[in-house]
Amino acid sequence: YKVPTPANEPVLPYTPGSKERKEVSAALKEARNTEADIPMYIGSEEVRTGNKKPLAPPHDHKHVLGHFHEGDRSHVEQAINAALGAKEAWAALPWEQRASIFLKAAELMAGPYRAKINAATMLAQSKSIFQAEIDAACEMIDFLRFNVHYMSQIYAEQPESAPGIWNRLEYRPLEGFVFAITPFNFTSIAGNLPSSAALMGNTVVWKPAYTQIYSANVLMEVFRDAGVPDGVINLVYVDGPTAGDVVFNHPDFAGLHFTGSTGVFQHLWKTIGENIQKYKTYPRIVGETGGKDFIVAHKSAKAKEVATAITRGAFEFQGQKCSAASRAYIPDNIWSDVKSYVVEDLKSIKMGSPEDFTNFFNAVIDERAFDKIAGYIDKAKANPMNEIIAGGNYDKSKGYFIEPTVVVTKDPQSLTMCEEIFGPVITLYVYQAERFEETLELVNSTSPYALTGAIFSQDRYAINLATKKLVDAAGNFYINDKPTGAVVGQQPFGGARASGTNDKAGSVLNLYRWVSPRTIKETF
Ligand code: NAD
Ligand code: ALA
Repeated sequence: YKVPTPANEPVLPYTPGSKERKEVSAALKEARNTEADIPMYIGSEEVRTGNKKPLAPPHDHKHVLGHFHEGDRSHVEQAINAALGAKEAWAALPWEQRASIFLKAAELMAGPYRAKINAATMLAQSKSIFQAEIDAACEMIDFLRFNVHYMSQIYAEQPESAPGIWNRLEYRPLEGFVFAITPFNFTSIAGNLPSSAALMGNTVVWKPAYTQIYSANVLMEVFRDAGVPDGVINLVYVDGPTAGDVVFNHPDFAGLHFTGSTGVFQHLWKTIGENIQKYKTYPRIVGETGGKDFIVAHKSAKAKEVATAITRGAFEFQGQKCSAASRAYIPDNIWSDVKSYVVEDLKSIKMGSPEDFTNFFNAVIDERAFDKIAGYIDKAKANPMNEIIAGGNYDKSKGYFIEPTVVVTKDPQSLTMCEEIFGPVITLYVYQAERFEETLELVNSTSPYALTGAIFSQDRYAINLATKKLVDAAGNFYINDKPTGAVVGQQPFGGARASGTNDKAGSVLNLYRWVSPRTIKETF
């Protein structure tokens, strides 16, 4: 079968008075005024343990949005059993039936659930409407539609045969269940990790970050409404180490689909390695992890473009994108202009609740993140090699608000130049314009990560040099654009080195990881 040709979901503008603006405003109001009671979903059951934990908007942490029912190791065991129980029927379902379910999920998300998933992401993850729309609505819809397209490409790929011989490739799902562990920062990534593995015929135990449970619950509603059968995706709220202890000791554990921090992923990989003899099959390990994403400008770059890339690339969604620029290298010939533009741009940024649509900048996810980011800002202030040219203040009395902060350092190896902060802090280093090649070496060697990066230049030789010298420094490399905002189907996303296994979410490469092909040779 030829599946529908996928197209990227258009981003709606949410102008005052527009239909979509009215719908999302109504959804926000309803969510604010309803105390949600969020169960786990295991097999056909909505599981309410009574161990209720509160959920609050990061920008208004005294308000209770609702509660989720926390589980323990017995619920992870039940989820594994439900996944294994659902496996045979799901894997035997013709692929076009599985495709139809997830295409329907895309349509539900584009239509009746769009306002609800955006409102949930705005409230519980503190995203502005624009950031919610490009993530929870458009990127999620794109993942669902494009994955079906890639799936059909995989199934169509068959070996050559010869007279008297017919060779076939049978794309079986993995033998066992898949464990999806998802981060807080993208609702679409949280939805994509379990659904992409399920699309290929696997059944899944899904453990989201606690700070994303509110929108995960809406994703699960969509999956169920679209017809994902009971047991195919099981959603549990159990702390990471406990869930991991059950899963990684189970003989049917067949794959990990992870997005989160580098430290956690390395720990999980080690645990899987230690348990390797317990499993029936070598588990697939796919992990997209941390970053220390860069912008490097050449002396020929346009100062205004570089400044815009800094403010948008570093500060959208409070710098909590894995792709966010957090270090930049600016040549001295354009520095004065870049600095003025950045400082001027940041003056116009409004910070506050995303429920007020005029706020570009909202709160960071929780108190732990707030304290960690504030700690980096304090250390940056204490370093005599640094100057803070914008921001630097923070306040958690009502919400976890941290100003967009720009540090200028004379030390290219200073702390905030090297470590992932995962918040609204960017550090800039001004270099002598003639030392471009040395600076590229510096960009390449300063951090263990290799997720995203950008070169700004009007000189083709400089672009070529940067593209070559930084060949391993970023899985997603941008020329004259900010390093965030990869679009499914256009810029397959993922990093190497300490940033992940680079299995490119939203591409055919990722879906290959969720099948275990069998080669069949038949002789006549
Ligand atoms: P995190 O590592 O704190 O948590 C990620 C998930 O792992 C959560 O569900 C968490 O509960 C779980 N977890 C934590 N410890 C665990 C354990 N011992 N066993 C099992 N599960 C465990 O990350 P986060 O704060 O949710 O997200 C931010 C991080 O994710 C950043 O480092 C960011 O760069 C990265 N990220 C990367 C990408 C990418 O595509 N490369 C995308 C989004 C986020
Ligand atoms: N698609 C997201 C970005 O590139 C991860 O910012």
